[in-house]
Amino acid sequence: MGKLAGKVVVVTGAGRGIGRGVAEMMAAEGAKVVVNDPGVAMDGSGIDKAPADEVVDAIRSQGGAAVPNFDSVVSMQGGENIIQTAVNNFGRIDVLVNVAGILRDRMIFNMTEQEWDDVIAVHLKGHFACTKPASVLMRQQRYGRIINFSSESGVVGNAGQANYGAAKSGIAGFTRVVARDLGRYGVTVNCIVPRAWTRMTATLPRAPRPSGPGAAAAASMPGDEAGAQGQPGLPSAAEFQMMQPDYVAPMTCYLATDEAWNINGQIFLVYAGTVGLQAHPVAQRTIFKPGMWTVDELKEMVPRMMAGIANPAPPPEDLEIPGRPKAAS
Ligand SMILES: NC(=O)c1ccc[n+]([C@@H]2O[C@H](COP(=O)([O-])OP(=O)(O)OC[C@H]3O[C@@H](n4cnc5c(N)ncnc54)[C@H](O)[C@@H]3O)[C@@H](O)[C@H]2O)c1
Repeated sequence: MGKLAGKVVVVTGAGRGIGRGVAEMMAAEGAKVVVNDPGVAMDGSGIDKAPADEVVDAIRSQGGAAVPNFDSVVSMQGGENIIQTAVNNFGRIDVLVNVAGILRDRMIFNMTEQEWDDVIAVHLKGHFACTKPASVLMRQQRYGRIINFSSESGVVGNAGQANYGAAKSGIAGFTRVVARDLGRYGVTVNCIVPRAWTRMTATLPRAPRPSGPGAAAAASMPGDEAGAQGQPGLPSAAEFQMMQPDYVAPMTCYLATDEAWNINGQIFLVYAGTVGLQAHPVAQRTIFKPGMWTVDELKEMVPRMMAGIANPAPPPEDLEIPGRPKAAS
């Protein structure tokens, strides 16, 4: 019997990439799956029913149960419809996996309000729009699993992604808070920070273009014209294979099982053969005095506290920076 036999699952953004892998593995483990995906382009534009329909067909052809849903996660009505699709077709909802995502990368000084709003809407509001209606039902039934998707861009930082990083950091915070809202009702809320080669990562400068066994999969990735095969620093075909989005699915499935009943409010880094439990943010170094610091005291103490801590984006040597000691010539 499958590890998710009888469970009813909603996976948003399940038409492609990581979401598709999660939907297919959960179906193979016996879950009945709502495959949500309006099939948008990577920037969120357009609509295409084919990706969700394809995943539903693939699940059914393996003897599984699945229905498509094409609503966008960006509105409360969309979220309500997505959750209602589970109730209408399968009678309940046990698991919500919030995977849907888009990218509109731009350096902060060039980013438009639209680029900001669109990315925040899909990722951050999208998590709320689906989680809210699911949480009402899960609280009533005293059972549920919610699995969110953040990113290293949000928990570590990545240049050119102020909108995306803010949303993904928000999702990490959302996870910690909602876990505390729902834990007492038998509902767990956790978060995955994935790494995988999908269309979302295909445009990164060092994206792989392997030859050999991984080449077929690579052919489905956009931007291959550059023909970077054989370039030093690119992953081997075997490494490329390990970075396929399907590798994120097993840990997502595990968090959805009954066995994971006491794992709540946690964030896991998941890629290839790696599952890492992320530390919660804590003060790394602390200075203390029994009263208010003066600015003069801090001018002395903070540099001492910060000794050895790297600036993630230091200004170039030839840029004159007020306050920076002049390099000895
Ligand atoms: N691939 C990675 O390395 C990586 C790294 C960090 C985080 N993530 C996150 O993992 C998730 C999946 O990413 P992926 O790489 O599989 O991307 P992907 O582009 O392959 O798949 C995302 C899917 O979400 C769907 N989607 C977009 N907007 C939607 C909306 N409004 N409503 C419903 N569905 C919508 C798209 O149509 C697409 O099929 C995203 O949240 C992404 O931010 C991915």
